Amino acid sequence: MALTVSCKRMVKIRIENMGQKEVVAKDAGRTLLAYLLESRTDWMHACGGKGRCTTCRAVITRGGDQLQPETVAERKFREQGLLREDERLCCQAVALGNVAIRVPRDCQFPHIRYDL
Ligand code: FES
Repeated sequence: MALTVSCKRMVKIRIENMGQKEVVAKDAGRTLLAYLLESRTDWMHACGGKGRCTTCRAVITRGGDQLQPETVAERKFREQGLLREDERLCCQAVALGNVAIRVPRDCQFPHIRYDL
């Protein structure tokens, strides 16, 4: 499970292939998945955010340095070839600042229209 460190800094998550949707929160230090679900953004998370499935993957296009280092779960999936170098698990990646992300094609819902 990812370490959560709450602080007063703002976080802005831009989802580039969901119409540049922005998710804004005033309390940096939570997982990307927590912010996404709180903002009612449909985001796959088959294992319920326990770091066991990889369906919550996001491609990090900007602000990777604003995320806490990868967790043991992410390292394990990366070593197994199930997590690309530019991807993080949203249930594990704790945001400390602004990031831009994309939904990988195989993690997209059929009922949502994604940009290319
Ligand atoms: S929700 Fe399953 S690994 Fe993140």
